[in-house]
Formats: sequence, C-alpha cells, structure tokens
Amino acid sequence: MIPWDPEWKNRKLGEIYDEWKACEECELHEGRNNVVFGSGHPDADIMIIGEAPGGEEDKKGWPFIGDSGRLLRSMVHGVGLDWEDLYVTNVVSCRPPQNRDPTAKEKEACASRLHDIIYIVDPLVIVTVGKYALNALVSGRSRGIEAEQGNLFSSPSPFFCVKGERNGAVIPGVVFPMKGSDGVHQLEYEVIPIFHPAYILRTDSYDTRTEKWAEGGVFYQTMVSLESVLFKVAELQEKHAKLARILERM
Ligand code: URA
Repeated sequence: MIPWDPEWKNRKLGEIYDEWKACEECELHEGRNNVVFGSGHPDADIMIIGEAPGGEEDKKGWPFIGDSGRLLRSMVHGVGLDWEDLYVTNVVSCRPPQNRDPTAKEKEACASRLHDIIYIVDPLVIVTVGKYALNALVSGRSRGIEAEQGNLFSSPSPFFCVKGERNGAVIPGVVFPMKGSDGVHQLEYEVIPIFHPAYILRTDSYDTRTEKWAEGGVFYQTMVSLESVLFKVAELQEKHAKLARILERM
C-alpha cells in the first residue's frame, strides 16, 4: 500500500476518530452527545473548517447539517462543487454550551486532532469558515474576517508546526515527492477564508419572492470567494500534474 492513497487516508482517519470519540481533554465533553470529528472525502483537494458543532451537529455527529450547513452546502453546490468531494471539519469537535465561542483552552485541546486531519487529508486549499477558524489557522496574520474574506494565505500558520516534522523534516514551501509514485506532496497549504453562513443568515437579506440575496451583500461576496477557491485548486492541480510529470522523467 502506498502511503497517502485514499484507502490509507481513510484507514488513518478511522484510527484517529477511534482515539478521539471518547475524548475528555476539555470540559466540552461533559455536555456533548457526539464528537463531531469530520466527514467527507479522505483525499479531498478542498477542506472546509468551521468553528464548532451546533445543536443538530451534536445530536447527529456530522458537521454542518443545521441551518448554517444547509446554506453552506447550497453555496458550495452553487459554484459547481459536490459536498461529498470535500472534507469538512471544525476547529473544535464538541458543541460549546449554548453555542458560545470555544475558549482558547478548548481550541488548544482539539488542535492536534485538527492538525492530524489536515496532515492526513492533505488538501490543496483550506477554506476557513468564519472568524474563529480564520484565527485558528492564520493566527497573528489576519486583519479580521471582514478585511480578509476571499484573500489567499499561503503557508499560513505556526499551527502547522505543531508536530514540527513530516517524515523527519519540515521544509516549508518546498515541494518534494511523498504522495506515492504518481504524485507529489506539497508542504504548504493555501487558506482562503469565507464568512460564516450563520453571519450571512443574520446580516444579509433574502427576498423570498424573487428567491434572491441582496446584490453586493455578504452572500454574493462569499460566492465570489468560493469561486476563487475553484481557480486556486485548478491552478495547484495543474502545478502538481506538471511536477509529477517532471518526477516521472527523473
Ligand atoms: N457551524 C460551524 O462552524 N460548524 C458546524 O459544524 C456547524 C455550524
């Protein structure tokens, strides 16, 4: 079995889920019904990272299945992506009481789970949903979600150095073969932040008669950002294919 292939990734994700499903690392475990670990394609090119599970997610154990999730799924679908092709998770995997913001301690307790998921799925682009996910991934470099939504962050965060190594070495920004015989592994992640769908639902206006969101509102701004994710992914896929061809000839 070649490491980094989808089957290997699926198995690895299952192993980590088994480790985390009874987690008691922070006090969120006291009120939860389910650890909302993550869902989707183990070899996804795009990963979506939200903040924390809400009520419905906690009840059923899957991310983004409530009102916010329904809007996010329709937006993702609207730019031509299939939800099943993405990998979706959150900064913290248990629901905070009354959907309050997760504390620094809770985020820290969940950081190695998030790190391991990113490391295994190894997406080309990470879409952070809302201000907390943006801060978790590009801490110290963000001017806030209003200013940054849709912007591209490359090699984003010390967060990715939690483990400090990959097969013995971390060389940020350097591309070298690791993904198996037919691919390459890039040690640099691209992050594109978008507004949280809960924020869109709260602040934007939707006309039920015309079934349209307000022109120029945060819904449309987010759609433009999601489209830019597609362009970035296509560009990176092309780059990877080129590198794979070069490696084949070596
Ligand atoms: N909001 C999030 O940030 N994540 C979910 O999974 C659901 C709602």
